[in-house]
Amino acid sequence: MELEQTFMNFLLHHQERHNRTYHFLILMDAIISAAKHIEHYYITGALKGNLGCTDRVNVQGEDVMQMDDIAHEIIIHYLKTTGRVIRAVSEESKDIIPLDEKGGRYFIYFDPLDGSSNVAHGLPVGFLFGIAKRNLDGPEDFHLRAGKDYIAAGMFVIPTGTLTIAFREAGTWRFHIDETMNYVKPVRIILPDTPDTWELSFNATNRYTYRKEVRDWVRQNERRYTFRYLGALAGDFHRILTRGGMFMYPAIVNHPDPKKLRPEGKLRLMYEASVVAFMCREAGGHAVNEHGTPILDIEPKDHHQRTALYVGSKPLVEDIARVLEGG
Ligand code: F6P
Ligand code: MN
Repeated sequence: MELEQTFMNFLLHHQERHNRTYHFLILMDAIISAAKHIEHYYITGALKGNLGCTDRVNVQGEDVMQMDDIAHEIIIHYLKTTGRVIRAVSEESKDIIPLDEKGGRYFIYFDPLDGSSNVAHGLPVGFLFGIAKRNLDGPEDFHLRAGKDYIAAGMFVIPTGTLTIAFREAGTWRFHIDETMNYVKPVRIILPDTPDTWELSFNATNRYTYRKEVRDWVRQNERRYTFRYLGALAGDFHRILTRGGMFMYPAIVNHPDPKKLRPEGKLRLMYEASVVAFMCREAGGHAVNEHGTPILDIEPKDHHQRTALYVGSKPLVEDIARVLEGG
């Protein structure tokens, strides 16, 4: 019989070692409960007809599937029970959601079901979250936090039963769900520094829509690495964290259909790019935008702001950043 350390036990010791409060544990317990619930709905969803499309579109103009709504509602329910969340930002809510503005301690930015084009096929999706803390030294001005000010960021890849979470200056860790529905067995994730296993991940049909410097970089570099693309950031980044290499979603600047242009990039800064950039930094990697600016340094102006994203092994991201800065 092999029994493993649970996530909660790991976290209790982590908080104790760093002289931290128990408030974060209450928040993480709620996040874990939400993820288990979403996982359950996802696994049983095909049978119960939960995985179809609704006729609504979300604030980004994408189809909203029933699972997106379910996941969002589940997370908000559990966050409310904590009494610790000031405000929440969700991909599925146009407005910022006020929760406990007086007593709350944390801001949370989340994508309840990332990669929803995979839902109808039962393929992996993600629940991505970034957490920041209120100003404890003076009055809180409620500004949207840059990734460098997150205290933790993580993702559940559903329905694979994994939780990957990074704590500020304390590394990136992966856990697996066990037969009792506990996340167990902490394994520290460090990006491999030798290129033998590195992979490149991007939507290859978009390659001709990138700006010239990026197209040239792809042409010169792509044959050195294996190519993988699932179409769900959480799943694609999950591979990059263990294999190394780079996931990228560059700006789309040359497209015959003007509606398909994405000069700002496609992914959302607060609950997609900054979340994976934070996990990547704690695993020894790096992430930049279309100008080569570190993702974690970008101060958000809007909670649904988009960005281009290049994230992965430091030497590779730094190499493309030099090209991006010059353009
Ligand atoms: O949330 C946006 C998202 O679904 C990501 O999970 C994913 O990486 C990306 O969009 C896929 O976009 P595309 O279908 O354009 O490749
Ligand atoms: Mn998403």
